[in-house]
Parts: sequence; structure tokens; C-alpha cells
Amino acid sequence: MLELREVSVSLGSRRVVEQVSARVERGSLVALVGPNGAGKSTLIRAVAGVLAHDGEILVAGSSRAGLGARARARSVAYVPQRPVLPVSMTVIDYVLLGRAAHHSVLGTTSRLDRLVAAAALERLRLTDLARRRLGELSGGEAQRVVLGRALAQEAPVLVMDEPVTSLDLGHGQLVLELTDELRRDKGLTVLCAIHDLTLAALHAEQLVLLHEGRLVACGKAGDVVTVENLRRFFGAEVEVLAGSHGPVVAPLRLSPAPMPAPPAGNTPRDTPRQDGRVAMAAP
Ligand SMILES: Nc1ncnc2c1ncn2[C@@H]1O[C@H](COP(=O)(O)OP(=O)(O)OP(=O)(O)O)[C@@H](O)[C@H]1O
Ligand SMILES: [Mg+2]
Repeated sequence: MLELREVSVSLGSRRVVEQVSARVERGSLVALVGPNGAGKSTLIRAVAGVLAHDGEILVAGSSRAGLGARARARSVAYVPQRPVLPVSMTVIDYVLLGRAAHHSVLGTTSRLDRLVAAAALERLRLTDLARRRLGELSGGEAQRVVLGRALAQEAPVLVMDEPVTSLDLGHGQLVLELTDELRRDKGLTVLCAIHDLTLAALHAEQLVLLHEGRLVACGKAGDVVTVENLRRFFGAEVEVLAGSHGPVVAPLRLSPAPMPAPPAGNTPRDTPRQDGRVAMAAP
């Protein structure tokens, strides 16, 4: 459904993404992972059509090169990492913007648009916030509203840039379960940059690991989420545990725990021991 053929992106004079090729099958989710600055957002923005690129990006076999903004928006919906929100707009009006790609040039909001927008809010448990202004939302609520706008777009491909980063555990789960449901029911195809490798492993059919703009590993979670890859590309020391639904990343503590300060009132003769407890001197 979505195919990247040797996609490269330059920002200023820097080549930030270098010849990345990948496929996302209809109804599947590919997680784009990698350390800060690896090029994930840049690649996502190229797929969304907001950055120029070399190489080819195909949706349902057709190149996106030369498509106008509205045609692009009908094929790919984009959830940015740092959206700029019009603070005085209401949630429902913002979500309705997602329907603009379906209007004629002078089109007005239809009953269908309102139904689709209301359904998107409902799915994201945002109905109670529909009349709130965007400037009056918490970070995680705003992030879900941006996803709501993308869902209202009803494009067959959804690209999301760290959609669960500011969400609590429950709402993060809600968002990924929701995309699972849309993948199953509507064949939605998803490319998603994500830092939580355990969640990525749980939901994605495939992981693509970027490092310094290049694809350095791709495949099933068990092949990508490994102690060696996390050490080499993230500089992280972790254990990778065998969870019941895939690998679970458990960070390791490298330095010993700091000694707790002695409780007030201890005499100078009370000496901390190596295990962190305080040995009381005999009176
Ligand atoms: N406008 C720009 N001009 C030059 N370099 C840029 C520009 N914007 C971003 N970069 C650089 O491009 C590289 C890739 O950035 P990008 O935002 O794609 O990384 P990322 O993988 O999404 O990182 P993060 O996990 O922190 O979101 C980084 O080194 C970044 O500093
Ligand atoms: Mg990013």
C-alpha cells in the first residue's frame, strides 16, 4: 500500500535521510524507530508530502510526486510530532478541518462531515471536549485531538510521528488499539515513528530502525529489538525479556544506587555500609 524506494531527504546542506527503502502492506503497521536525530520525523514528513525528497514514494502503486495538497491529503493523513495548533479554535472545528480534503473548493461542512468528526472524537474519548478551545487542553488531550483530525480525513494511509509520547499508559494503549481496529476493519495502513520499543514490538508487524539517516535493521520485533542493536544504535544498556506478546525492553541501571542520607539524629558514629543500609554503632 505504501512503498518507499531509495528515499533521501536533504535539509539545508545536510543529507538527513539516505536511500531508505521500505514497504507497508495494506492493513499493517510499520514502526519507525531509532535514536534522537536519526531522521524519523524527516522521513515521515517526506511521506506526508510536506518535505521534498529524492527517490519514490508510492501509495497504492501511484507516485505522490506532482499531486496537489488536497489529493495528497485524501491519500495520506499525517499526525506531526509538534503540531502548531490554533489556540482559539474549538476541538470539533479543528477535527472538521480533516474533512477539507473531501470538499469541493468552496465546499461547506456537510452532515456526513459532522458525523465522521463526531465518530473520530468518540473513538478517542474526546466527545466531552468537543466545545473546548485547543489552547485549553492538556498536552496529551491536544495530541489525541490532532489524531482525531487525521482520522476524520479518512485517508487509506496514516503516518504518525510519536503519537503516544505525551500520553499516559491508558491513552497510549487506546490510540494503538484504535489504529489496530481501523487496520482490521478498514484496511488502514500505518507508518508510525515511536520511541517505546516495547509498544512498537507489540503492535507493529515490522520495525524499521534508522540511524544517522540510514536504515540499519528491519524486520520482525524479535530481530530488531535486540540487546546488541539497542547498545550499538541507542547507546542503551537493556535487558530484552520474552513477553507473552513479544520482546519487552527493560532498561538496566549501570551505576549502583546512591547511598541514602543518614536519617536526622544519627550520631557521626553511624556508618553507611556498601549495601546502602546504615550500620548503627554500638552505644
Ligand atoms: N531544518 C533543518 N536543517 C538542518 N538539519 C535539520 C533541520 N531539522 C532537523 N535537522 C536535523 O536532521 C536530523 C534528523 O532530524 P529528525 O527530526 O528527523 O530526527 P528524529 O529521528 O525524528 O529525532 P527525534 O527522535 O528526536 O524526534 C537531526 O540531526 C536534526 O538536527
Ligand atoms: Mg522526530
